[in-house]
Amino acid sequence: MFDTTIEIISGENKSKLKSPGFHNLYSQLTQCELLCEKEFESWLDSITENNQVFLFCMFLKGNDNSHELIGTACLYIKHCYYRFMANSATIEDLVIDAKYRNNGLGTKMIEYIINYSQSYNIYKISLHCDNENKNFYLKCGFKQNRLLMEKYFL
Ligand SMILES: CC(C)(COP(=O)(O)OP(=O)(O)OC[C@H]1O[C@@H](n2cnc3c(N)ncnc32)[C@H](O)[C@@H]1OP(=O)(O)O)[C@@H](O)C(=O)NCCC(=O)NCCS
Repeated sequence: MFDTTIEIISGENKSKLKSPGFHNLYSQLTQCELLCEKEFESWLDSITENNQVFLFCMFLKGNDNSHELIGTACLYIKHCYYRFMANSATIEDLVIDAKYRNNGLGTKMIEYIINYSQSYNIYKISLHCDNENKNFYLKCGFKQNRLLMEKYFL
């Protein structure tokens, strides 16, 4: 079993993330450009300063106190008018480094995020995924519901 921690990225721990390491992980999810450190910091600031978005990172602890980034995901909180003004939450961009998949880490990340979201008076949590990941999310307790409609601009 791997010795991992999950952290929500804030002003205090954001220096643990570097652009190349984050890009290496994120590019396993989707095609993305490598940002220079300044651009990356500015993107991190936009996340950490927004109290409705949370960036979760999973680190593998090394013997020498090192930490390797091996997973990430985002949680978005939306304040609703309906359901007695409860919140809805969305998980996006979950990725576990390919070297560490099928060890329960994706499940650990989802469970951690769901648990965290409970403090936000959440009435539901949703996400969208490709067909190839459907069984993973079914195993995590999600149910397929409705259709996703999208319009792309980039
Ligand atoms: C999807 C992903 C996060 C799963 O992470 P993981 O750490 O491998 O998942 P787990 O080890 O916790 O898997 C839990 C269970 O789901 C199954 N599973 C994992 N990935 C699966 C997949 N893509 N399709 C079907 N089942 C899958 C595992 O076999 C395991 O089943 P078991 O409990 O019967 O052994 C990982 O494969 C990944 O990062 N994929 C690339 C990025 C991506 O597509 N992210 C999803 C964006 S919506």
